Order: sequence, then C-alpha cells, then structure tokens
Amino acid sequence: MGQVFTPHLLAKFMVSLFQSDLKENNKILDPCIGPNTFLSYLDDINSSIQITGVELDESLISENIKEFYKKPNRQLILDSFFNLPLANKFDYIVQNPPYVRQELMMNGENSKLLALKSLSSLSQIIPAKSNLYVYFLLKSIFHLADHGRMIAVIYDSWLYSDFGKVLKDAFVRFGSIEGIYHFKKNAFPDAEVGATVIDFKRIINPKEKNKLIKLYSLKTVDEVGFYGSKIKLPFKQIPVQEFFTYRFSEETVIDFKIGLFKPIEKINSQPIQRGISSIANKFFIQQQKTFEESIPFVKDVTSITSFNVKNELFYLLALNGHISEKTQKHLDNAKKEILAEGEKFKALKEQIEHNPNWYKVQLKKPGNLLFNYYLRKNIDFLLNEELHYSSDNFIF
Ligand SMILES: C[S@@+](CC[C@H](N)C(=O)[O-])C[C@H]1O[C@@H](n2cnc3c(N)ncnc32)[C@H](O)[C@@H]1O
Repeated sequence: MGQVFTPHLLAKFMVSLFQSDLKENNKILDPCIGPNTFLSYLDDINSSIQITGVELDESLISENIKEFYKKPNRQLILDSFFNLPLANKFDYIVQNPPYVRQELMMNGENSKLLALKSLSSLSQIIPAKSNLYVYFLLKSIFHLADHGRMIAVIYDSWLYSDFGKVLKDAFVRFGSIEGIYHFKKNAFPDAEVGATVIDFKRIINPKEKNKLIKLYSLKTVDEVGFYGSKIKLPFKQIPVQEFFTYRFSEETVIDFKIGLFKPIEKINSQPIQRGISSIANKFFIQQQKTFEESIPFVKDVTSITSFNVKNELFYLLALNGHISEKTQKHLDNAKKEILAEGEKFKALKEQIEHNPNWYKVQLKKPGNLLFNYYLRKNIDFLLNEELHYSSDNFIF
C-alpha cells in the first residue's frame, strides 16, 4: 500500500504553496489521503471550494476524517484512485503518492494491469519497471484542468536516476514545473533519503510554458520555516533544456559538522602555508647530501610512494650562517654560471648584484601534514611525521 505518511511540517508547507491562490468554486483532490494529512489543513476554507479525497485503505479513515467530509462540497471516495475516471478535472492536486516497487504490483487494486488500464492511451509512456508512484503522478497530471497545479512530494531519486527521465519528460511535455523544493535529508523520519516537493502546472498551450525551473535547495524541512510564512527561500533557475542533464547530485551538501570531518588546521601542527622556495633548484637542491649545510627536503609528490613521507628525500642547501669551504666554492661557481645565463634567472641576477647574502633560504617551520594543492580533486594528503622541510610544491 506504500503507507508512509507526510510529517506535519512538510505537509503544512506543501499546502501553504497553494492555499493563498485558492478561489471560489475551485476543485481540490488528494488521490490517496491516508490520515487526511494535507486536506485537514484546509478545513476552514471557503465552503464553495470542492474537496475530493480518495483512499483505498478504509481502516485509515477515522471518525474525524468522516466528519471532515460531511461538510458541504466535500467528497470522500473509498476506492482505488485508478477507478476515478479521467473526466474528473481539478484545479489543485496535493499528494504523497504510495511507493510500491513494480515487482509487487502484480495483484489487487494496485496491479500494473489496473494501473495501466486507468491511463488508457497514456499508458504507453510508462516504462514497465515504474514504481506505483509514477502511475499516480502521471494519472494526476491528466486530472488537472488547464492551468491546474499539482503539489506532490516524492523521494529525490528521480532527479538522479535514468528512470526519473520519464517523469521529467512528462512534466515538461504536459505542462511546466513552477518549482522543485529539494530537501537533502530527513524530510521523512526513518528514511535516510532526500525528498522533493514538485510544484507542477498543467499547461496545454506550449507557448505559455515556463522556460526556467526554480530549484530550491534546502537541507531539511525545518528551513522552510513555519506554516503560511511568506519568507523568500533562495533558489536557482535552471533552463528547461538543461533540466534533463542537470547534475542535481552535485548540489549535495556535505555536513562537515558530523564526526567524520575535522578542519585541516585542527590536525595540522602548523598554520597552513606554502612550502619553501629554493633560490635556483639546479644549484640548491641535490639528490644526495653533497654539502654539510644541506638539510633533508621533501621535493615533489610523485617521488613519494605511500601516504607517509619516509626516505624519498632530496637535500636543500639551506645557508644561514657559517659556510664551509666546499660550499663557498660551489656558491662562487653557481654565481658565475647564473650571471652568465642569457635571459634566465633575471630576478636572481638582480639579487646577486644587490644582495651579498643572495643565497640565503627563508626556512619555514615544517608541518606534520603535506598536501600538493588547495583546490583540486584527488589531493594527496601526506603524513610528515618526521617534520621534514618541504618545497613550495606543497602546502603544509
Ligand atoms: C504515501 S501514503 C500518503 C498518505 C497521506 N496523503 C500522507 O501524505 O500522509 C500513500 C497512501 O496511498 C494509499 N493508497 C495506496 N494505493 C492506493 C490506491 N490505489 N488508491 C488510493 N489510495 C491508495 C495508501 O493506503 C496510503 O494511505
């Protein structure tokens, strides 16, 4: 029967999307009322408005619900929605359709056979593997009068799946989507999935259709605030042509506050900064410890084979203070070679000419975590337990 009832905050929100647009003599339908979740919010509306509630499971109908439908212009149909003739048209439909997997739609009122029959020629557009809710939504579209609106809540899987294409196609073909309210999580208790509220308008004349779909991305239902409030929720506009390829999954908000995540600066022993720039790699970085002043140095990520910096080290000639004879000779040679270079080392040449300590390296205290880029996918985070100095190929 697919009996998952809508939480009250969400139901109130859905009703608030159309309640203020209701006009005298309008007709409203909920094709599967359950405990009359949505329509009960409309008990006080203008009595000329006609309310129709359908429900297959009589056991859900309480005395209160019976009283509700005794009022003028209200009708309770205890039968399958599939038995409601398509000739019945409505200005508003509000619903949370039943979820029943196609494998279970074999017998009884919700058998595929009856569901398809109720859609007559339109049944051709429904793929055989569709869940029961797809039949409910499609049939509802054809119960809408021209410009009639349907507010429906369904899980958000249709946004991502191939199977959801049928629904997207139907919404665009037979009308336009006024808005999609995407609740990323906790819209339904006990269901770790997101939900969408679809605000759809049946439009027969293609020229009247919207070219943009408003997408409201929300974390939880609590964000919509209280009933009836006219707060303006932030939204994005998606051109209808992009609706089919739009990557709704990238919208997913990661909750960094849950225990799995820690800010990098909390696990890094140093403030995050770029590594050490060498003066001229050729003269100042060696693969062996060639000079007594050289210090171990992590140079590039490709030379590191695990996620722990071990022996994949280079050596940096980090001079600051006493210089040995051997190193002094090396420096003098380096100076000559650099000055003899044509266009290369332009800035360094200037340094050499104006600064007698041109070879000094600004050391930065090493951190225990190295990573190679800030804003890339697949960043390698390397543990630098021994606190080696690292090159400016890294951030630490
Ligand atoms: C997901 S529940 C939603 C109930 C209620 N509208 C709510 O949102 O809380 C779906 C309802 O559809 C009813 N249902 C299942 N098959 C049906 C059918 N063929 N015709 C009418 N109602 C049906 C179930 O009994 C259930 O109450």
